[in-house]
Amino acid sequence: MKKKKITCIVGTRPEAIKMAPVIQELRLDENFHVTTLATGQHTDMLAQALDDFGIKPDVDLHIMKSKQSLDYVTSSVLQGVGQFLDEHEQDLILVHGDTSTTFAASLAGFYRHVKIGHVEAGLRSHNLNLPFPEEANRVLTDRIADLFFAPTKGDAENLLREGIGREKIFITGNTVIDALYDILKRKNETPEFLRNIDEKKLILMTAHRRESWGETLKGICSAVSDVIHSRSDVIFLIPLHKNPVVRDVIRESLKDFPYNVIFTEPLNYSDFVYAMSRSVFILSDSGGVQEEASALNKPVLIMRTLSERPEAITHGTGLLVGTERGKIFTEALRILNEPEYLNKILEKNIMPFGNGTASRKIHEAITNFLKEDD
Ligand code: UD1
Ligand code: UDP
Repeated sequence: MKKKKITCIVGTRPEAIKMAPVIQELRLDENFHVTTLATGQHTDMLAQALDDFGIKPDVDLHIMKSKQSLDYVTSSVLQGVGQFLDEHEQDLILVHGDTSTTFAASLAGFYRHVKIGHVEAGLRSHNLNLPFPEEANRVLTDRIADLFFAPTKGDAENLLREGIGREKIFITGNTVIDALYDILKRKNETPEFLRNIDEKKLILMTAHRRESWGETLKGICSAVSDVIHSRSDVIFLIPLHKNPVVRDVIRESLKDFPYNVIFTEPLNYSDFVYAMSRSVFILSDSGGVQEEASALNKPVLIMRTLSERPEAITHGTGLLVGTERGKIFTEALRILNEPEYLNKILEKNIMPFGNGTASRKIHEAITNFLKEDD
C-alpha cells in the first residue's frame, strides 16, 4: 500500500512542544510518510523546543525577522507553505493551535484542497480581540479545517455550536500533557540558576501577550515590584521571551531587584517544567502554562481578562486576575500569606486536559480518516 503523506507544520515554541508528541507518534506508523515543516516564525525558541524532543525539521522556511508584523508572518507562511505543497503533494497537513503560522498554513492547504487537521481545535474566548490575534486565528482555521482534535468536551461543544459535523470532531485531551509526562519521566536535576535560592519562595513569571505590550506590561512589572517590596523572602524567576518588545520592558522595569529577580533566556522545556514544579505559584499570560499548571496541581495567576481555557479556572489551579497592577498584587499576596487558601486550590484531583494519551487518539482518528479517504 502507498504510504500516506502527512506534513506537521510548526512555527512557534508552543506549537513545537504540543506537536512533538504527535510527530513522534505518527513517525512510528509505517503506513505514513511524515514531514515536519518549520515555518521559522520563531527561530531559537522553536529549535530549542523541538530539540527537547529530538526532532529536527525536514523543511525550514526561515521566515523570522526582527520586529516582524502580522502581515509579514502571515503572507510569508502562506507563500512558503503554498510553494511546499505545490512541490510535494500531501494527503493531510496538521496544524496546531492559534498562531499566524496555524492560520496561514491552513489557508495554503485550503487553497489547494489539501485536507487539514487542526490539533487543539475549538478553544474560544468568544472575543475576537482577546487574545489578539489568536482568537481570530483559531476561529478562521476551524472554518476551513477537515478534522478537529478538541482537547476538552467544552472545546468540542464550541465547534458543534459553529456547525461543524460531529463526525469530524475528536475529543483527545491536550497533547501538552503528553509532552509534559514525557519530560517528567526523565531524570531532572536542579538547573544551575536555581541552585542558590536557599529558602526563598520561588515565583515563576512569564509574559508575552501582544495585547499587553506597552503600558499594561509595565503595570504587570510594577505589581511584581510591589510583591517584592512587601515580601523580601520571594524570588521571581523570569525566563525572558526573545521578543525585544517584551524583554526590554521587563528587564528595564525590574532592574533594581538583583536579589529578588533571576532573569534567564527562554528555558529548555525540562528546566521550565522543573521551575513550574518548584515554584509556590506561577504568574503568566501564557496559554500552555495554564494547562501544564493544572496537571502539576500548581496555582497560576492568569494575567488576562478572560481565558479560552475555562477548564483551568473550574479546576481551581487557574485564577483569572486580569492585567491590573493592584489586583495582581492582592492575589499574589493572598497566596503567599494564606496557606489555607492555597490548600483549597490544590485539593482537587481531576485532569481537565487529559491523561497523556492525546497523540494516540489523534493517530487513531487520522488512520480512520485517511482510510475513508481512499
Ligand atoms: C507568537 C504567536 C503567539 C504565541 C507566541 C508563543 C502570533 C501572532 N503570535 O508571538 O500566538 O503565543 O508566539 O511564544 O502568531 N523572536 C526571536 N527569536 C525567537 C522568537 C521570537 O528573536 O525564537 C523575536 C523576533 O524579534 C520576532 C519577535 O520575537 O520578530 C516576535 O515573534 P512573533 O512570532 O511574531 O510573535 P510572538 O510574540 O513570539
Ligand atoms: N516554555 C518553555 N520555556 C520557557 C517558557 C515557556 O519551555 O522559558 C513552555 C511552556 O512550558 C509552554 C510553552 O512554552 O509549554 C508556552 O509557550 P508560550 O507561553 O510562549 O506560548 P502560549 O502557550 O502562550 O501560546
